[in-house]
Amino acid sequence: MTTYLDNAATTFPKPESVYRAMDEFARTRLANPGRAGHRLAVASERMLDEARHVLNQFFNGEGPERFIFTLNCTDGLNMAIKGVLREGDHVVTTNLEHNSVSRPLQALADAKVITLTRVPADSSGTVHPDDIRRAITSKTRLIVLTHASNVLGTVQPAAEIARIAREHEVLFLLDAAQTAGVIPIDIRGWGIDLLAFPGHKSLLGPTGTGGLYVGSRVQLRPWREGGTGGDSSSPTQPREMPYYLEGGTPNVLGIAGLVAGIRFVQERGLETIHRQELQLVDRLRQWLLERDGFEVYGHGDPDRRVATLSFRVHAWPASEVAAILDASFDIAVRPGLHCAPYIHKALGTFPEGTVRVSLGPFNTEQDIETLCAALSQIVAA
Ligand SMILES: Cc1ncc(COP(=O)(O)O)c(C=O)c1O
Repeated sequence: MTTYLDNAATTFPKPESVYRAMDEFARTRLANPGRAGHRLAVASERMLDEARHVLNQFFNGEGPERFIFTLNCTDGLNMAIKGVLREGDHVVTTNLEHNSVSRPLQALADAKVITLTRVPADSSGTVHPDDIRRAITSKTRLIVLTHASNVLGTVQPAAEIARIAREHEVLFLLDAAQTAGVIPIDIRGWGIDLLAFPGHKSLLGPTGTGGLYVGSRVQLRPWREGGTGGDSSSPTQPREMPYYLEGGTPNVLGIAGLVAGIRFVQERGLETIHRQELQLVDRLRQWLLERDGFEVYGHGDPDRRVATLSFRVHAWPASEVAAILDASFDIAVRPGLHCAPYIHKALGTFPEGTVRVSLGPFNTEQDIETLCAALSQIVAA
């Protein structure tokens, strides 16, 4: 069986309850949701409502109707960025961002719609709130921040940066791709205006799920208009949330799985999952640090990280290490730039990148031992 260590891309396997929930839903209620439809359509719609309630409680939002279902985290980030920014706006972001943030922002900057400041992280991979504060100008409309680096695993001071955004009457978009499900996120407590999250990573739902939370300070333009399963008489998109931003048939089957994934996280406990993953990744980190032939990146303090670790093997390019691990040992890791080229440039690991190991709730000590044994053989070769 594959030793799967690529959970930052998507978690695998999913909990049994997720498979069961999707199977049950597919066989009994997989109708197109509709508020005024037949019984199966209403049952399908009810599941969507339940999912929004679960999310609202999980993230402490201002209301279930403010959670918009998306295809993935990229979709939510694009909806937020393109829906909020106007000509002449200035945006503050960081060099830790994933291409799903960097590319839409850079495209808007290249088209001269916005100006952009990319605040660098320090050598441990943390962005300093004061640097964000200093980057704000009278034109700044939005701060976009990844909650944890998908290369280094470093968790950013999101609550502090959200507070700075409020003080300056700037909107705050948090990319929770690497934290939703392992680090508590408090929308109301921190003052988050926009939260993009994937359903398929640490929330343990299937691929094809994600969401965007839209707070009450935000006016988003919809970029996907169409049917809403309700009021069809209006010539334009109904203004009522969530339908305003949710044209088209939603991924109800995936969302049924996502609800089961979130319930799994709630039952096992987010802190318990996080602690277990961190213990395992720190065992690997320690092992790598104690040996010659490896370079390890990221913050030394486990309290500042999620269970994602980047390293290099001195003697071998990252892509070859990953290919050997896959082909000879059936171990799945991810080499390269991880869609985050700016932080690799800052680390000096561009363009080759690093080997990234990322853990999920079903990884075991045995997985780490299997990886370490394989790495021993690779460096000895
Ligand atoms: C920090 C970060 N943001 C955004 C994304 C995009 O997420 P998705 O694959 O759900 O589109 C990722 C994916 O790995 C990520 O790590």
